[in-house]
Amino acid sequence: MPDHHAVDVIRTKRDGDALSDEQIRWFIDTYTAGDMADEQASALLMAIFWRGMTARELTIWTATMLASGRRLDLSSLGRPTADKHSTGGVGDKVSLPLAPIVAACGLCDPMLSGRGLGHTGGTLDKLESIPGYRVALDAAEMIDVLAKVGCAICAAGPDLAPADKKLYALRDVTGTVESIPLIASSIMSKKLAEGTEALVLDVKVGSGAFMRDVDSARELAETMVRLGEAHGVKTAALLTNMDMPLGRTAGNALEVSESLDCLRGHGPHDVMEVTYALAEEMLNLAGVDADPRASVESGAALVKFHEMVRAQGGDPDAPLPEASERRTFEASQDGWLNGLDARAVGIAAWRLGAGRARKEDPVSAGAGVVCLKKPGEQVSQGEPLLELHADHERVFDAALAALDDAVDIGPDRAEAPPLIIERITA
Ligand code: URA
Repeated sequence: MPDHHAVDVIRTKRDGDALSDEQIRWFIDTYTAGDMADEQASALLMAIFWRGMTARELTIWTATMLASGRRLDLSSLGRPTADKHSTGGVGDKVSLPLAPIVAACGLCDPMLSGRGLGHTGGTLDKLESIPGYRVALDAAEMIDVLAKVGCAICAAGPDLAPADKKLYALRDVTGTVESIPLIASSIMSKKLAEGTEALVLDVKVGSGAFMRDVDSARELAETMVRLGEAHGVKTAALLTNMDMPLGRTAGNALEVSESLDCLRGHGPHDVMEVTYALAEEMLNLAGVDADPRASVESGAALVKFHEMVRAQGGDPDAPLPEASERRTFEASQDGWLNGLDARAVGIAAWRLGAGRARKEDPVSAGAGVVCLKKPGEQVSQGEPLLELHADHERVFDAALAALDDAVDIGPDRAEAPPLIIERITA
């Protein structure tokens, strides 16, 4: 590969010109190999953040990130494969019921997931609150679990999209996460590496999401759908509301417990609406004619979840960890609860110990927020709206401060916004 100078590449993007295919390949390969300084890579990411990327640049950028590692071959499974990925939200535990539901419908779901960062929760942290559950499977173990159970939820190993691991860590500390081309290439390089034939993206929109408005979420969804299809993966996206937390819990073990409620047929209606809509998209893309609701009603999806937990070393019968301390947050007046800000609840859960500030920080399994009331319900002054769970008394004040402006109570009931906002297909 011809040699380039990092400063020339940075200047090209800084001045608003498109990077050449060679410049992109050189940058990603050099940085992934550890041969470029973080400050130069950061400068280019910031230039991309402001200048964006052309469709051609993004295609080459994503393909190079994908090619930085291996792409799993799932053909030995002999079954249709499909996965979903969410752009991240608060209380978004959908992956936990969804993977076993679609597995019970006959799909294989190779779900490579991430950890929570900042105010958003992460599927791996949630599952690790189940005693014994192992998220670090190598490719052979993952394929073995998929063959036996039909779904596996684990971390992407070091050989899958290593460029994203380095770039994401750098973006996280340089204020360059919220960029449509950088998010799209990050998510798609990982999802293409897992070898799925079909992919459904849950692009969250609202205060608790990376994309605050529908236009940006639509652009992100369309970009990812285009990238997926260009790599031969049938891809669709749903834009879903993230102005309020999904379900009644935000926190690791609390969300596992609520996911079990979903699989037992009494999950909150908003979690089930999103879960079933995504399951239908996955089944549709994979060409499997099955009813996801029936797999819950029959108990088959719950059995799959238990099988997956056991196959990954966990004990599905062990009690989930609980935090030792509780505090409630009360309604300041009588009326209708019309809003509960997702970002504020996510920050409260994070400060209670459910999230981490840096990737290497530990999380508390039991900490988090339980929404005793959700928008659309009537409340009385002094009535508990939220229950805060933590391992230490000292964290409550900071969590309660995050909730200062989180609640909107009015004299009239406001109409609930639609949960599923839009469907994007190729
Ligand atoms: N999730 C990812 O995997 N990457 C991003 O850039 C944002 C969310």
